Amino acid sequence: MAEVKVWDWPVRGSHWVLAVCVAGSWWSGEQGATAFVWHQVCGYTALVTVVFRLGWGVFGTRTARFSDFLVGPRAVAEHLRALWRRELPPHAGHAPSGGWAALALWLAVLAQAGTGLFANDDIFNAGPFYGWVEDGLSDSLTTWHHFIFDGLLVLVGLHVVAIVFYRLWGGQHLLQAMFTGRRNDLPAAAAIGPERLGWAVAWWLVVAGTLALAVWLAPPAVVLSF
Ligand code: HEM
Ligand code: HEM
Repeated sequence: MAEVKVWDWPVRGSHWVLAVCVAGSWWSGEQGATAFVWHQVCGYTALVTVVFRLGWGVFGTRTARFSDFLVGPRAVAEHLRALWRRELPPHAGHAPSGGWAALALWLAVLAQAGTGLFANDDIFNAGPFYGWVEDGLSDSLTTWHHFIFDGLLVLVGLHVVAIVFYRLWGGQHLLQAMFTGRRNDLPAAAAIGPERLGWAVAWWLVVAGTLALAVWLAPPAVVLSF
C-alpha cells in the first residue's frame, strides 16, 4: 500500500465549486428579486461547472471518465451485496453505485440551471434566454425550475447520507479523498496518471466562453406583467 492519487484537480475542484454554487443558488433564489445578481453568478457557474465536468468525463484522467464508473446492473448488484456484508474492497474512483449517483446529480443540476435560463419571476427578473421563448413556455419552465429543485435537494440529501453511511458502515474514507485527491489504502498501480491541467483549462474556457457569448447575444429580457 502507498499514498496514491485517485482524483485529479478538475474533479475535486468541480465538485466543491458545484456544491458551493448549488448552495448559493438556493440561498439567493429564496431571497427573491433582490439577490438575483448572486443567483445569476451561482447559477451560471454551476452550469459551466457541470458541462465542464461532463466533458471531463470523456477526456479526463482515468477515474474522471464515465467509462471507469458507469457500470452495468450486475456490477452494481455485486457491489451492494458486498456493502451489505460489510466487505467492500477499497476502490480507486467511484464505486458502482456512486458513479450512477454522480450522473443523476449532474443531470439534475443541468436541468435546474437549464430551466433557469428561460425562467421569470413575473415582475423584475428573468433568465437571459427569456426573450427567445413565448411567455407560456417561460412560465412552465419556471414551474419546472421550482419542481426540479425539490428533486435536487432530495438527491443532495441522499448523497451526503450515503457518504456518511459508506464511512460508518462500509469503512470507506471517501470524503478525505475528495479534498486531497489521495488515498492510502490502495496499491501504487491504482494511481491516476498525469493531471492534464492544460487540457482542463482550455476546455473550461470553451464552455465558459460559449455560455458568455450566448448570454451576450440573447435578446434583452423585459418581464413586468402587472
Ligand atoms: C444550480 C442552479 C440553480 C438553482 C439550484 C436554482 C434554484 C432556484 C430557487 C430555489 C429559486 C426560488 C424558487 C422559489 O421562489 O421558491 C429560483 C428562482 C429563480 N431562478 Fe434559479 N436556480 C439555479 C439556476 C438559475 C439560473 C442559471 C438562472 C438564470 C439566470 C435562474 C433563474 C431563476 C429565476 C428567474 C427565478 C425566479 C422564479 C420565480 O420567482 O418564480 N436560476 N431558482
Ligand atoms: C450541492 C451539493 C453537492 C453536490 C451537487 C454534489 C455532487 C457530487 C458529484 C456530482 C460527485 C461526483 C464527483 C465527480 O466525479 O466529479 C460527488 C462526489 C462526492 N461528494 Fe458530493 N456533492 C455535493 C455536496 C457534497 C457534500 C456536502 C459532501 C460532504 C459530505 C460531499 C462529498 C462527496 C464525496 C466524498 C464524493 C466522492 C464520492 C466517491 O468517492 O465516490 N458532496 N458529489
